[in-house]
Amino acid sequence: MQKKDIRATFGESMASFNNFLLLVLLTFTLILVTEAAQERRRAIPSEAEKKQLERQLKAINKPAIKSFKTKQGDIFDCINIHKQLAFDHHLLKNHSVQLKPKNVPEWITSNNISWEADPLQYLQEEINCPDGTVIVKRTTMQDLMHAQRLKSIGFSGPRNFLTERNNTDVTGPHYAATVNFGPSNFYGVKGHLNLWDPQVSQDQFSGAFMAVAGGPKERDSSIFVGWMVSPSLYEISQDHVHLYTYWGKDNDKFGCYDITCPGFVQVSKTIPLGALLQPVSVYNGTQYEIRLSLYQDLANGDWWFAYNDENVGYWPASLFLDSGFDKRANYAAWGGQVYSPVTEKAPVMGSGHCPGEGLSKAAYVNSIKVITGFKKVIDPEINRLKARETSSKCYRTLYGNGGKEPWLRTLYYGGPAGCIGA
Ligand SMILES: *[C@@H]1O[C@H](CO)[C@@H](O)[C@H](O)[C@H]1NC(C)=O
Ligand SMILES: *[C@@H]1O[C@H](CO)[C@@H](O)[C@H](O)[C@H]1NC(C)=O
Ligand SMILES: *[C@@H]1O[C@H](CO)[C@@H](O)[C@H](O)[C@H]1NC(C)=O
Ligand SMILES: *[C@@H]1O[C@H](CO)[C@@H](O)[C@H](O)[C@H]1NC(C)=O
Repeated sequence: MQKKDIRATFGESMASFNNFLLLVLLTFTLILVTEAAQERRRAIPSEAEKKQLERQLKAINKPAIKSFKTKQGDIFDCINIHKQLAFDHHLLKNHSVQLKPKNVPEWITSNNISWEADPLQYLQEEINCPDGTVIVKRTTMQDLMHAQRLKSIGFSGPRNFLTERNNTDVTGPHYAATVNFGPSNFYGVKGHLNLWDPQVSQDQFSGAFMAVAGGPKERDSSIFVGWMVSPSLYEISQDHVHLYTYWGKDNDKFGCYDITCPGFVQVSKTIPLGALLQPVSVYNGTQYEIRLSLYQDLANGDWWFAYNDENVGYWPASLFLDSGFDKRANYAAWGGQVYSPVTEKAPVMGSGHCPGEGLSKAAYVNSIKVITGFKKVIDPEINRLKARETSSKCYRTLYGNGGKEPWLRTLYYGGPAGCIGA
């Protein structure tokens, strides 16, 4: 499917924000420079760095009331809800836990969805955290190094992924194929992302996400949720798909993946951030998806994350005070993203098949919705969703009205491996 056809079909309109572009380019250049430095310094951490990481780990992993180890080797801890890592954050010293949001989007109806194809089902069979605790994946040294590495290569950059810009001049190693919404004022987003297990090399990443961002350009805040395959850099292990979240503030000066730093307040006893997701979709076969919501509790500005319509936890508004993001979001995006070192061919995005192949073959995000006010949920008009392909030679998008719910607003995205420096 040619880009032209997509545009003709869905009437995509491209706007350009020139001032904005400059800022983006600048940010991007900075990231590239940082990356070059990081590439040189990577490899094995020094003894001093290791000691530092060990100290960090000790602070991150709170005492467990109960622990579980899965067959896959992950350890999950049940932690006293009031003693979780989040409360180490200086802005959350006086925070009182919100056990549930005061305002909930209508699609989040109950707290006990039983869903046949829940990719976290395997966990719920094995794990049973007592009342008053929350489930947390125990952070390992490897997780920390991994998170640092992801951040060092700019694998988050809200402006990079979320906002309007000229796609043709992106020369970096990140590729995205998304639909974007904004600039606008809104309070939440929804999307169902089908799951794949894209093959990637040790240093590559491939995933899908839904994200929101807000605040002034120079002090941007953002939250990302989705799945990611990103093999460990320091141990031999298989590729795995993980549920991931990321929050950033002041252009990523603060923030982190999952619970590798204080910030996210977990309330769920069953759904841990960073967990392995399985099974995954089969090409031309059974499709598995995760249903994600990110929405603001309009009563206090907390940003809630729901997985399969169950509230997992939230990023308190107080993390984002003075940035505007505690009041609203301005940008959203849904789609795929990959990273590859410049020396390698870029990996598969999504299923590795082009969007034109459609359901059960291409990766999708459906049920794309935006919350624009109290109890106001919209299916964004097609022309308010703007396609963004950082490298349309390699990875494409195809979006539109796919019929009935949950296909009313659907994005297909992705493409095969093999792109070089596109
Ligand atoms: C927490 O409460 C104390 C006492 O009321 C106050 O002095 C302090 O500024 C508060 N900290 C934050 C981060 O709000
Ligand atoms: C939760 O599940 C139980 C047992 O399946 C059911 O009786 C109850 O009504 C459910 N609660 C809600 C809020 O749907
Ligand atoms: C952005 O893209 C448009 C259309 O492809 C092109 O005309 C314009 O020159 C580009 N701007 C920059 C700064 O590259
Ligand atoms: C997809 O599955 C159908 C039914 O099983 C089969 O007829 C068809 O050939 C398959 N297509 C591809 C591209 O594998």
